[in-house]
Amino acid sequence: MLSPRQATASPPDRRSLRQPLDPVTGYNVVAADYEGWHWQTFWRRNEHPLVISALQPFRRGLDIGCGTGAYMRSLKRLGEVTGIDPSPEMLRQARLKLRWGAELRLGTTASLPVDANRYDLCLSARSLCHEANLEAAIREVARVATVGGTWVITDVHSEHPYPCTRIPVAGRGDVFIETHKRTPEKLAQVACSTGLWRLAHAQSYTWHDLLWQPKSTEFARIDRRGVRPVFFILRLVRMANPAANPA
Ligand SMILES: C[S@@+](CC[C@H](N)C(=O)[O-])C[C@H]1O[C@@H](n2cnc3c(N)ncnc32)[C@H](O)[C@@H]1O
Repeated sequence: MLSPRQATASPPDRRSLRQPLDPVTGYNVVAADYEGWHWQTFWRRNEHPLVISALQPFRRGLDIGCGTGAYMRSLKRLGEVTGIDPSPEMLRQARLKLRWGAELRLGTTASLPVDANRYDLCLSARSLCHEANLEAAIREVARVATVGGTWVITDVHSEHPYPCTRIPVAGRGDVFIETHKRTPEKLAQVACSTGLWRLAHAQSYTWHDLLWQPKSTEFARIDRRGVRPVFFILRLVRMANPAANPA
């Protein structure tokens, strides 16, 4: 459940923005500026094409942590899609942008407001790092996924040198948001150890792999030697419930 403080969008004072904010408060504060953030250009040019080109058409999709809806339009071409996000302000921006009346609901990865066994595609694009309870999230996505369904997870790689998500807001400065940095190996290991998921694909992307190599100094933290990966994409497949198939 969202607390009343989280569900409203009253921004904290300027001093407190230097402390990492909880994700709902943080994304409520940055929502209006999120689409103009230079890293959004980076993701649109580098991550989106890789994610979308690897997807097969699906029946029902769930964009978990959909934010302002950056992926929703592309997903809609491949199947019916619902967006979930815990930040009312990010969802408000998504509603303004997605003019076809996209289905958008408040929720978190660990508490999805949807029925079980329904989605053959789930996408978590840089949102799982904001979920504190990883195992609960893994089990919850397994609850709503169909057997054989795919869960695509992308995130900033934990080796990329950043302490936490930091988004500039016009007239306010940078907003820091609580982020749980996890390696793709750790995510895959925890997911597979539940017996609910198997790893289908994992890839980390360094400077040399980027489709668009930004020249701008705004991306100074990217390791241009290509040693430290910048981001990763994981693809997990929902297995039949272990309890339903005793050995
Ligand atoms: C970096 S943004 C990514 C948004 C969108 N997926 C995109 O590609 O632009 C992270 C989003 O995750 C949402 N979020 C925060 N905590 C979350 C949680 N526990 N579960 C799901 N989404 C969460 C935030 O509100 C925010 O919209």
